Amino acid sequence: MIDPRDAGIALRLAGVRRVLAVSSGKGGVGKSTCAVVGSLILARRGLAVGLLDLDFQGASCHTLLGCRPGIPVEDRGLLPLEPAPGLRFATIASFIGERPAAMRGSALAEALREMLAVTRWGALDVLVVDMPPGIHDSTLELTRVAPATRHLVVATASRVALAVAARLLRYLGEADAPVVGLAENMRRTAAEAGSAVPALAAREGISFLGSLPFDGTLEAATGDPGRLVLTPFAVSLEQVFVRALGSDLDPSP
Ligand SMILES: Nc1ncnc2c1ncn2[C@@H]1O[C@H](COP(=O)(O)OP(=O)(O)O)[C@@H](O)[C@H]1O
Ligand SMILES: [Mg+2]
Repeated sequence: MIDPRDAGIALRLAGVRRVLAVSSGKGGVGKSTCAVVGSLILARRGLAVGLLDLDFQGASCHTLLGCRPGIPVEDRGLLPLEPAPGLRFATIASFIGERPAAMRGSALAEALREMLAVTRWGALDVLVVDMPPGIHDSTLELTRVAPATRHLVVATASRVALAVAARLLRYLGEADAPVVGLAENMRRTAAEAGSAVPALAAREGISFLGSLPFDGTLEAATGDPGRLVLTPFAVSLEQVFVRALGSDLDPSP
């Protein structure tokens, strides 16, 4: 079906070099934490970074960033907020506040199109997208409307999370949605590293991007971008993002 907004979305994203969708299928594995801290790290490296919270049911980037998701200023589109230097941020929470937003899969894809059609990102090196949990239309809708999209899939070493990650990877593979690789979150001990999550990446034929430690300091740093980027988690995450983005980290031509 032709949607006139598609052309508008293409224009809105014309200045965006790369879209990095942080996905997992399962909730609670650390997508939002990776998306927020990763965006902050990239902005500190001098990249022009956008962060879009598309988790309609559980928008949490604003909580991690410690900012109030007010209604964005309108100027030929909605201008992203700037919760930290160099970081442009848009969130569905600006429109639904703290109310629960019950939505069906097709409504998620619809809301995704709407967010992309109205937000004026300008020129960005990377747009990081905090994806909603679950495997549904919006997962593929992003790739359809923003062909520069690559998925960074996050999983923990729990068998439950691995099973969902495997399903998501197969779903993305069948839809030809590009995946940059798989990262392991909440690794408890060094001995756990190098086991189940890298094995899943190998089985699915995608890159393993690295392990992120379980970091008990993250909770206390929540709401404080300056502290979040100094956590041991952030130090490991920087390597994961460097591997995920490769040559996209080079300054824009
Ligand atoms: N590496 C980690 N170490 C400790 N706690 C973590 C880690 N990653 C995420 N968390 C915590 O786990 C919870 C869920 O993380 P979140 O990023 O909201 O997951 P998701 O977005 O996948 O639902 C949060 O309380 C977060 O602080
Ligand atoms: Mg989340």
